[in-house]
This record gives sequence, C-alpha cells and structure tokens, in this order.
Amino acid sequence: MNGLFLLILAAGKGTRFKSTLPKVLHQVSGKTLIEWVLEAARPLGPQTVCLVVGHESDQIKAHLDKAGVEFVEQVPQLGTGHALQVAKPLWSAHQGDLLVLSGDVPLITTRTLQTLLEVHRQGGASATLLSARLADPTGYGRVVRNKNGEVERIVEQKDASPEEIRLNEINAGIYCFNSEDLVQVIGGLSADNAQGEYYLTDCIDLLRQNGRRVMARVADDPQEMKGVNSRAELAEAGQLLRQRKLQELMAEGVTVLDPASTYVDQTVSIGADTILYPNVFLEGRTSVGSHCRIYPNARISHSTLADHVTVLDSSVITESEIGSGSQIGPFAHLKQHSSVGSRARIGNFVEVKNTQIGDQTKAAHLSYLGDAEIGRDVNIGAGTITCNYDGVRKHKTVIEDNVFVGSDSQLIAPIVVRRGAYIAAGSTISQEVPEDALAIARAHQLIKQHWAKRRRESYRKE
Ligand code: UD1
Ligand code: CA
Repeated sequence: MNGLFLLILAAGKGTRFKSTLPKVLHQVSGKTLIEWVLEAARPLGPQTVCLVVGHESDQIKAHLDKAGVEFVEQVPQLGTGHALQVAKPLWSAHQGDLLVLSGDVPLITTRTLQTLLEVHRQGGASATLLSARLADPTGYGRVVRNKNGEVERIVEQKDASPEEIRLNEINAGIYCFNSEDLVQVIGGLSADNAQGEYYLTDCIDLLRQNGRRVMARVADDPQEMKGVNSRAELAEAGQLLRQRKLQELMAEGVTVLDPASTYVDQTVSIGADTILYPNVFLEGRTSVGSHCRIYPNARISHSTLADHVTVLDSSVITESEIGSGSQIGPFAHLKQHSSVGSRARIGNFVEVKNTQIGDQTKAAHLSYLGDAEIGRDVNIGAGTITCNYDGVRKHKTVIEDNVFVGSDSQLIAPIVVRRGAYIAAGSTISQEVPEDALAIARAHQLIKQHWAKRRRESYRKE
C-alpha cells in the first residue's frame, strides 16, 4: 500500500487575531490549534509530517521541537498554492498520497480524515477534497459542480460571481492529492485573482483540464470544517471541543451538573461516578479518580486526584497529588509539587506549597505549609505557619508522624519536630523538638488582679 505524506499549512499571519503569537499556537481546550490538527491526523500513520511555516516560525518550531515534524519555510507567503510550491522538493519525492490540511481547523476528526482517504483511494482520483454544506457559507471557497454533479473547480468568495456566492457547498481546505499528478500542475498556478495570491484551490481546475479525476467528499458533520480565523471563532471552536469532551465523559459515567459552565481540557481523564459541579476547571495533565466530587469554582491543573476525593468550593490545586478519600477546601490552595496522602484533610484557607503530607493528617484551618515534609496522623492547628524563607533562601520543615501542632504556632525553618511530639498553642519553635516531648515557646502569662476594674473606676472620677 502507498504511504501517506501529511502536509500542514501554517505559514499565514492570522492577521485578524491581532496577536504577537502565531495563530496556530493559540490554545483551545488545553491544546494549541496545531496540536489538535496534528493529533487528528497522526492515527492515519503518515510516513512524513511536514509543516509549512513562515510568520513567527521560530515560535512554532520551538513549540513542536519534539513532535517529529519537518519544517519548510515559506517567506513571503504568497498563498496556499505557493505554500505547496515551496514544499514541493519534499512531497514530490514521495510516491503516493499527499494529505493537505490547514493548521487552523482544530475540530477535524480522525474519522473524517480516514473516510476522505478511503474515498480518495477507492475512487482512484487525482484529487479528493473535503467539502461541507453550510447554511452560512460566507468567507469560504465554494465548490462549483457541473450539470452532472461533478466537481469542476473551487471559487474563492472574493472572486465569485453572484450565482456562485449563493452556492452553499464549501471547500474545507482539506485535500488528498496523488503526488505525481499534482507535480504536473502545481507550477501552472497564476496569481491573477482578487487577492493576488497563488491559490491551491486552482489545482482542482487544472487537474480536471488535464483530464484527471477530481472528487469531493461531503462531510457528515460540517462543524468539523470550521476554520479559526479570529478570536471569536477561537471561542466558538473552544465551546464545541469542550462540549465534545463533556459528552465523552458523561458517556463514560461522569456526572456533569451543568455542561454549559464546566471546563475540562481534552487532556484530562476522570473516573466513573465522579460529580462535577458548575464552574469547575480541570486543566492540562490532570487525572481525577472515580467517586470524586468537585464543588463549584475549583480549578485543578496538572494534578492527580485518587478515588473518593472531595474538593470543596473555590479551591485551587496545581501540580499536586491528592490521595484517596481526602478532602480539600473550601478555599484551599495547593501548588508546586505538593502531595497529600489518603484520608487527609486540608481545610479552609490553607496554602500548601512544595509540601508532602502523610495519610490522615489534618490541617483544617488558616495555615501556610511551605517546603515541608509532614508525616501521617499529624494535627496542624489553626493558624500554623512554616517560616520557610529567610529573605534569601527557602528552608525545610520536617514534622514526623503523630505530632500535634497547637494553634497559632510558627515553625522557623530549618526545623525538625520528632515523632509524637506536642507543640503548645501560640509557640514560636526555633529548635528541634525531641520525640514525644512537649515544646512551649511563648511568654508566661501575667495576671494583675482587679486591674481592669480599677482603671474603669479611675476614668469615671475624671
Ligand atoms: C482557504 C481556501 C478556501 C477554503 C478555506 C477553508 C485557498 C485559496 N482558499 O481559504 O477555499 O474555503 O481555506 O478554511 O486555499 N497559508 C500558508 N501560506 C500562505 C497562505 C496561507 O501556509 O501563503 C496557510 C494558513 O496559515 C492557513 C491555511 O494556509 O493555515 C489557509 O489559509 P487561509 O489564508 O486561512 O485561507 P482561507 O482564506 O481561509
Ligand atoms: Ca482559514
């Protein structure tokens, strides 16, 4: 069987984005536009993946440096046909099919591309393009068919006659070509059109004039063809991808109380019987176990939650791990490679940074735990603070198993509190606390009998 050469066009400026970032590096639902396209096409097993870049190409190359992609520079960018002319040395050496995609169609699916390729191969065509029938075809190139319903050519909106403008079958900008046949016509393009560009779409007409067979496959789901040319279309594509992901999750047994306000990146996995409340954000490399509950306004990025975890309202968890049966929040903040064991509890207004916390440990209220290693069955009283920063360096706090830290204590790092020790409330701990010891580090209490009453009486006499 012939191999496949995948060519993705991404040299355009994306003028309407008004961005310093190249258009295809804008993100929707956790991935850049170009990643969406690449990942849809990869399962087809292309022998070579080649990207035509031009505008801000260094940024695109850096973004895809590990993606196994070859790059061709197109400067200046004189149109989609010109892009294929510039890349010709690569694809013309390839015997077989050439699949051309744009970098700005993130909704395209593997299945649709697979079908296009099958139709192309079975039909023995020189070119097969993907088309769609849209209620509003504005902006797209139109597919012009002859009386017999055969594809004749594609006309861009700006070059179209009033009758052609009314055609509602559009060119998706996704094509399969027979490389050898395309080589024959690619040099013959002219820029004699409204935009003064070399249109790839004109190859269809040229091939047909050479007596070659040209076909169009009408896509089942026209939404997949949507190109992203503006921020408004970026939002629209994001919305559709988001709903696609939520549909998948619900089919797999996840309850999503309000899909309209739930944001789950494509890259996230969630176990069955987990419940997502409204306004939850799950981002990046996040994995959530089964039977979890994620309450409103939580944002969880690049983190792993085991089964039966509860995240209460308005908590933020980034790059951290939560063990099974633990409860986080409300208003908790975990970050920078923190981990929490199983059946632990991190409560209201607790910030945890670069800290490991053991099983069944509780920090229920108002604490800062930074650069610490905390054992199992530890109780961290309300208002406990690890004083980890001396103005220059960060220092470590170690709290071993079964320690009780009384409320409003400060632990001045570097510091170790040995296993089973007890810290009296309101202490400022600056020296190691031995195993099973009690540490009290606060001023002695002074009582002045009747002082308050005497003061009140003296004021009254004035
Ligand atoms: C193109 C098609 C149009 C189709 C539409 C589908 C042409 C002439 N028109 O129009 O029929 O309906 O896509 O979305 O092809 N690019 C380059 N180099 C260039 C110009 C563009 O690499 O010199 C890249 C762009 O970065 C983009 C893709 O090609 O990824 C399509 O270019 P764009 O300018 O968006 O074409 P459209 O006007 O949308
Ligand atoms: Ca486009």
